[in-house]
Amino acid sequence: MEVVILPHAEAIGALAARLVAAELRRAERPVLGLATGSSPLVIYAALRRLVEAGDLALAGVPGFALDEYVGLPAGHPESYAEVLRREVVEPLCMDPALVRAPDGAAADLEVACEAYEQAIAEAGGITVQILGIGENGHIGFNEPTSSLASRTRIKTLTAATRAANARFFPDGDAVPTHCLTQGLGTILDAGALVLVAQGERKAEAVRQAVEGPLSSRWPASALQLHRRATVIVDEAAAGRLELADYYRETFAAKPDWQRV
Ligand code: GLP
Repeated sequence: MEVVILPHAEAIGALAARLVAAELRRAERPVLGLATGSSPLVIYAALRRLVEAGDLALAGVPGFALDEYVGLPAGHPESYAEVLRREVVEPLCMDPALVRAPDGAAADLEVACEAYEQAIAEAGGITVQILGIGENGHIGFNEPTSSLASRTRIKTLTAATRAANARFFPDGDAVPTHCLTQGLGTILDAGALVLVAQGERKAEAVRQAVEGPLSSRWPASALQLHRRATVIVDEAAAGRLELADYYRETFAAKPDWQRV
């Protein structure tokens, strides 16, 4: 795992976007794994600059969301399909027909989960997966004690996650209690993982993910199993990392050929 500590969110977005773009450019069948939440917004902003400069074209690149709420009607503004359409698909000039989220409104959710796994496989797998992290260490909506081998499935959201996401439902709508999420096993199948985190509230989750034991108690620790995982954080989110100085030295001393 590579851990990079940067001074501010814009630098995080710029580096993460360069990494994502490099992965997509060298892939035979580029496929982008998308995350919602506020943390990756800086990545999308930086990717947009690359697209607008003509350095990256995403129009033909399929996209797969990590997760979706269960029970929101299609087109609900806070469904992740809609959030991604507004915040990612349109600004990055992606083709909406090529961007999918698990179908949380399906009559048969198990069939929807299987169909989602199959669609990812048919696209040739996810080239690079963008990730945020929850305060309790969840990635996607893989809440604590999610199986490290899990695939796309239904999960119950923790009270803490529902409280954290209540800010997106200001009209008094209840935050859904369930979601469909790519499993940790699904996420680990991506060719590369880029996780970003900002702020002191994420510091414990980042510490557990990077330096804690591999444990479903902190689902993001599953990244330790991936050969090509990069974790990019600001100083506040890095605040509890025991080996922070080592990560800084490693990044500063990186050979030119390894830089993107
Ligand atoms: C939600 C999403 C996750 C995201 C997390 C943190 O639970 N399902 O993918 O990582 O929120 O969000 P934020 O980046 O807004 O803190």
